[in-house]
Parts: sequence; structure tokens; C-alpha cells
Amino acid sequence: MHSFEKLLLENKAWAQEKVEENPHYFEKLVNLQTPEFLWIGCSDSRVPANEITGTNPGEIFVHRNIANMVVHTDLNLLSVLQYAVEVLNVRHVIVCGHYGCGGVKAAMTNHSMGIINKWLRNIKDVYRIHYDEIQQKENEEERTNRLVELNVIEQVVNLSKTSIIQKAWIHHGRPHLHGWVYALADGLLKPIKYMTPEDGVDPIYRYDNL
Ligand code: CO
Repeated sequence: MHSFEKLLLENKAWAQEKVEENPHYFEKLVNLQTPEFLWIGCSDSRVPANEITGTNPGEIFVHRNIANMVVHTDLNLLSVLQYAVEVLNVRHVIVCGHYGCGGVKAAMTNHSMGIINKWLRNIKDVYRIHYDEIQQKENEEERTNRLVELNVIEQVVNLSKTSIIQKAWIHHGRPHLHGWVYALADGLLKPIKYMTPEDGVDPIYRYDNL
């Protein structure tokens, strides 16, 4: 059997199990998408949003990219964000990074890697802003992990700079923004940044006609 065939087989078994547990399982899911959370995570295969949070299909709206970035010109991210905030009315947006992130590691090197350079540039910018602090760390692993944390914080702040979030804060008092870091070593999530509408937006980035 090919490895991909195993996926299809496992899928059949999973669907069957769900129906055995609850005959109306899929019927219910088809008619209901009311997730309370938007998850912006890394594409890394070891950080599956639902599994590590013990949530079921229907509970988290998910967007993943390399190094969980919130880039203000990324139509994909912005479309997901707008839909989640304005149509699904999510109450929380979670940016989740993870220690040992390959994207962050790559951004700290001087290797050219082709088109991905453009994406990693966004992480390099965070690296530059916090360069002095990061350099004070003792070894490479600690430096990488500190940039992982600072990058998550920066991406949460980037969310607050979007007109989508600012508009929702003014008119609906939501969503709350969260920055979490996942540790591959023990499977635990660490909250490191939290923003509510009351925190407001950096005046430079604030729109006053929303
Ligand atoms: Co990663």
C-alpha cells in the first residue's frame, strides 16, 4: 500500500467511527460553522491546531503559513481574517508560534533560498528590531527561541494594525488577540501576549474614520 492510500483508508475508518459515536455527527457539522477561535499558526506538521488544543472539527477556523506571520499585504491571511472576524464573528484570534521553528531559524541565517527569501524578510525585520536583546542570549537555541517569542508578539501587534481588527474593536468590542508559543519538547502552550480592545492601537497605525 502507498503511504497516501493509508490516509484514505484511515479517513474511512475515522468517518465510520464518528457516525457510530453519533449518527448525526456530519449532519450537524454540515449545517453549523460557528467557531469561536481563529488560529494563525505555523505550517509545521508537528503543530496541529485541533489536536494540541483538544478541539473538534467546527471549533477553530485555521490559517497556517511559514512561521505564523501576519503580513499586511498577504491577501490570503487578510481574507481569512476578514471572514473570521466579520462573518464568523470569532471572539478570539490566536497567533501560535513554536520553539525550534525552521522558518525563524532560516531567517537568522545569511543563506539565500530563492522565493522564500521574500517571506523570511518579514521575520528578518523582527530580528533587526530586537537584535541587541537576542544577541545577549547564550547560545543559538536560546537566540532562536527568543526570536520565536518576539515574532509571535510582533504578529499579534500586526493584527491590531489592520483596519479589520480596529473596526471590530470599535463596533463590537472583539476579538481578543492572543500570542502563544508551543513547545515541541513537552507539548505545552505558553501564553506570552494578550491584547483586548481596551489596549487600543499604536497611534501611528490607528485609523480614526472606521
Ligand atoms: Co515553524
